[in-house]
Amino acid sequence: MNHILEAQQFDRPYLEKLFKSAEKLGKKPKPLLTGKILATLFYEPSTRTRLSFESAMHRLDGGVIATENANEVSSAVKGETIEDTAKIVSQYADVIVLRHFEKGAAARAAEASDVPIINAGDGAGQHPTQALLDTYTLQKEAGGIDGKTVALVGDLKNGRAARSFVYLLGKFEPKELVFVSPPELAMGEDIREYLTRHGIPFRDSESFEEAHAADAIYQTRIQKERFASPEEYERFKGKYILTSEYAASMKDKGIIMHPLPRVDEIDVAVDTSPHAVYFKQAKYGVHVRMALLADLLGR
Ligand code: CP
Repeated sequence: MNHILEAQQFDRPYLEKLFKSAEKLGKKPKPLLTGKILATLFYEPSTRTRLSFESAMHRLDGGVIATENANEVSSAVKGETIEDTAKIVSQYADVIVLRHFEKGAAARAAEASDVPIINAGDGAGQHPTQALLDTYTLQKEAGGIDGKTVALVGDLKNGRAARSFVYLLGKFEPKELVFVSPPELAMGEDIREYLTRHGIPFRDSESFEEAHAADAIYQTRIQKERFASPEEYERFKGKYILTSEYAASMKDKGIIMHPLPRVDEIDVAVDTSPHAVYFKQAKYGVHVRMALLADLLGR
């Protein structure tokens, strides 16, 4: 069974095939999943991931059953384990998209499920399908990944989207990755070891000025929900704000990405900048998720 649990499970030929399929399905969706059912099971808030998966399934002519706010309205409230819930929902659906507040929850659900589990974010762990659409966006909007410099900015310790994105970048040959964050929110050792093992150059900086010469800036929010106290969050909030002036200092073809949601780290005036691709990035999420669902469930 093909569970989607972590970004490093993909290889480059698979990604290239998936992106070709996303390109085709994005232009013209096909009724490839008639009669199949997708279940979304979300224990944490979401706008993009849940709705884009549901949109992707509808566009492929499949059906959707959904539990948002699962931590409030599912039988988890009565004490049911994630393993039991996954086992049960897998009797009702052909694939389960799961978001959970605990790192490792998707892997636990996969042990019990009779259908593929797609990890839609597990605490500060990973968000592999976000990484797929981020990598697709980078390839499409920056004209490729090999030889490019990508600067990741913000809360790199707790940002599961950034973590998964870096794992996928390690499948390509970027020139360099620049991690811009306060030392307390630096990228984890697991990712550094992975990049070293794969020969991908990377460096750290606390200065936002280190990002503007990159081919792509991957801006992220400070992950308020992962801090022990509001005071600790306030120490880092507003540390890196991307303004129009900053965007104007980027190289001509440099792009600004963001997994969203945004809080204050990209000024809304940047939205009309030719460098800003983050709304397109969200749209590509439907295309990539169509391709992934078609691959997992298609005949
Ligand atoms: N990028 C992302 O995961 O957004 P949501 O939290 O809205 O799903």
